[in-house]
Amino acid sequence: MKTTFSIIKADVGGCPGHAKVHERLIEVAENKLKEAKENGIIKDFFVTNCGDDLELIMTHDKGEDNEEVHGLAWNVFKEATETAKELGLYGAGQDLLKDAFSGNIKGMGPGIAEMEFTERKSEPVIAFLMDKTEPGAFNLPIFRIFADPFNTAGLVIDPNLHSGFVFEIWDIKEHKRVFMKCPEEMYDLLALIGAKSRFVIKRVFPKEGKLPSNEPVAVVSTEKLYQIAGEYIGKDDPVAIVRAQSGLPALGEVLEPFAFPHLVSGWMRGSHNGPIMPVSLKQAKCTRFDGPPRVVAIGFQVKNGMLTGYEDLFDDPAFDYTRQKAMEIAEYMRRHGPFEPHRLPLEEMEYTTLPKVMEKLKERFEEV
Ligand code: 13P
Ligand code: 13P
Ligand code: MG
Ligand code: MG
Repeated sequence: MKTTFSIIKADVGGCPGHAKVHERLIEVAENKLKEAKENGIIKDFFVTNCGDDLELIMTHDKGEDNEEVHGLAWNVFKEATETAKELGLYGAGQDLLKDAFSGNIKGMGPGIAEMEFTERKSEPVIAFLMDKTEPGAFNLPIFRIFADPFNTAGLVIDPNLHSGFVFEIWDIKEHKRVFMKCPEEMYDLLALIGAKSRFVIKRVFPKEGKLPSNEPVAVVSTEKLYQIAGEYIGKDDPVAIVRAQSGLPALGEVLEPFAFPHLVSGWMRGSHNGPIMPVSLKQAKCTRFDGPPRVVAIGFQVKNGMLTGYEDLFDDPAFDYTRQKAMEIAEYMRRHGPFEPHRLPLEEMEYTTLPKVMEKLKERFEEV
């Protein structure tokens, strides 16, 4: 029997502004998922938030893209939207871009990361949740976890990791994908994923060996809201699932890349570069300039599809230095105001007000 680990998330209203999910929305989601657990639709669940994104973490045995599980998530978001409207929360229903559910939640606004796998004797799984950024924000840390020996000692030390991993890369503009072997094709891989607004890591697979090579060990949500809506309506705050230990990077190797607060795009109005700050669940609210972008990590042990406890992994002074560093970078970037590279480059501003400014000035541009 295989286990499916699903994270389905949506921003259905913030309080205040885009800062945080209201407690009442968490309650709505918990009640609905409790009912679904009793009815056997899911096996277990954990509801939380990162900033203004409502996160449904669920385990079940129904596989990826399951209509019942996706339908359940959609109904949770619909009901939470009603509550958000009653409470007057900001941007109620923001990420629900379509009206009628027809079998799969993909392309309807919410973000999805799902993986089905054969449970090992002991199965540590980490859920990463980000706010105020986009899927490409995971490229650097996921690459470092599974491909950088300066991050992951196991790539050098553990014979089971030594042969490396296979990366599934999506071109999110052309809607194509390519599988690349690492370390063999590392430089080509980096040529793509360094361009993080276009090429994103979707999944990572083990090579032939201890673990089945057709079952992912990491998966990232890659939904692009503006492509669905045709205009900017909020950033595509991404989530990821990573499995750890016994032939995979250790938990500490999975967390290690987040000790560097790398620059990601998002932040205020989804239009700025800024550092991503690893925080505890309690600190997962976006304040300064609607940010800075944040990431939380929640660790579980999965057994027979059940979640054994949870640990708020960045709730640790070991990440204080990173948070301090992130605030220094945030301060430095902020001083640029509306100038690049704090503000995103032109190509990434296309879906905001820039075309309207250009339209207004069209007649006044002269040849030089
Ligand atoms: P409004 O205040 O006009 O909604 O826009 C600002 C914002 O928060 C963008 O998401
Ligand atoms: P979210 O994408 O988290 O809703 O944030 C939107 C925004 O405009 C923040 O300034
Ligand atoms: Mg929002
Ligand atoms: Mg958000």
